Amino acid sequence: MIWSRLCKSRTRHFLFFGLLLFAISVLKYIFQPCDKNDIQNDADNPRRRYCKTQLFTAMQLSSRSEINCSNIIKGDQQAVNQALLHQLKNKRLPSNEMDYMKFIKDCNLYKKIRRFIPIPLSKEEENFPIAYSMVIHEQIEMFERLLRAIYNPQNIYCVHVDEKSPENFKEAVRAIISCFENVFLASKLEKVVYTSWFRLKADLNCMEDLLKSKVPWKYLLNTCGTDFPIKTNAEIVRALKVLNGKNSLESEKPPKQKHFRWLFSYKTGRTVRRTNIRKIPPPIRTPMFTGSAYFVVTREFVTYVLENPDVQKLIEWIKDTLIPEEQLWATLNRMPGVPGSSPYHAKYELSDMNAIARLMKWAWNDGNMDKGGAYPPCTGIFRRSICINGAGDLHWMLQQHHLFANKFDPTVDDYAIQCLEEYLRHKALYEKEP
Ligand SMILES: *[C@@H]1O[C@H](CO)[C@@H](O)[C@H](O)[C@H]1NC(C)=O
Repeated sequence: MIWSRLCKSRTRHFLFFGLLLFAISVLKYIFQPCDKNDIQNDADNPRRRYCKTQLFTAMQLSSRSEINCSNIIKGDQQAVNQALLHQLKNKRLPSNEMDYMKFIKDCNLYKKIRRFIPIPLSKEEENFPIAYSMVIHEQIEMFERLLRAIYNPQNIYCVHVDEKSPENFKEAVRAIISCFENVFLASKLEKVVYTSWFRLKADLNCMEDLLKSKVPWKYLLNTCGTDFPIKTNAEIVRALKVLNGKNSLESEKPPKQKHFRWLFSYKTGRTVRRTNIRKIPPPIRTPMFTGSAYFVVTREFVTYVLENPDVQKLIEWIKDTLIPEEQLWATLNRMPGVPGSSPYHAKYELSDMNAIARLMKWAWNDGNMDKGGAYPPCTGIFRRSICINGAGDLHWMLQQHHLFANKFDPTVDDYAIQCLEEYLRHKALYEKEP
């Protein structure tokens, strides 16, 4: 009798505590902070739905309401004209160095307010880290917006700031990157004199630093301060996988008028001057090629560039040529034996339009495509013969296969950048392919 009473009360106790524990764990499960595991798989349950809404709402980016980006991107002429009109009426001053120094007192708050992506958005992206070499010298807001557009916590970013840049610019850059574990300043900063060897050296410095990092990145992309991505990180990852170990960069047979770049020795002072000293031919068995400073190259390529003795000789030789970065990468990309390179055969045409590294509109190819133009007319303005893209350029641009486009300038067309930001973020969050 006594035993059975005791048992009953014990059972009741057990039941009570059991229920309590169960309730606590259910509450804990519901209210635990959402993390990447809650969005990286497609299971459909109330908690996942709750977490997706929570995390994605905090990551949304939208442009200012007086323009209609989705119509602009569709190529709607009326929406483009409206943006142009607004641009003229309400010039917005970009944020300056002081603004950032004040803003970045609290990194967590800063990253939240500026909506940096805090977690890898998919397993596929997490397993395919990308390295970036960013060579910049001015326009702090543009740097921050570019960084935000390409930032993902699994990637790694080396930032090279021109040694000649004003101290407050360098300080603001340092402040921004101090908020991220995977963004760092190049260990050696060069004075990047236009057309000189030091532009190339800046990327080489970053390459060296990036190879030392623990991040197992698979491809390296480089950018300058006026670039902007036209693909999401997930799309970039997929494009790199399709390359399947190949590099992708412009590397064309040089037109006659470019040979002078390496016929004479050039001297770098405050500008680059040609001397009368003739250079010996390049120390390679294959021909020279020309292309752009911007590339998409494999980790194996970068290791080879820094370690192979023949490449070291070529770099040594190319130092006193003009705009060497437009020759070095293009030439290496055509040399047999160089990782990821393509044979220098006419079957492998690698123009800027065929490579995926960079999309730009050159003044001399621009215009009416019915009359032989390579692309529709630039709707921004031309600077150094390259189009600074306007909102009207986005529609065509986003149909191209390139990963990045050049140039963007918020003082020329801020809406072009705003609409790209909004488009890319929306695509990254909501238009994921399985
Ligand atoms: C843009 O225009 C489309 C249709 O013209 C409309 O459905 C959409 O709500 C507009 N978006 C904004 C942000 O005004």
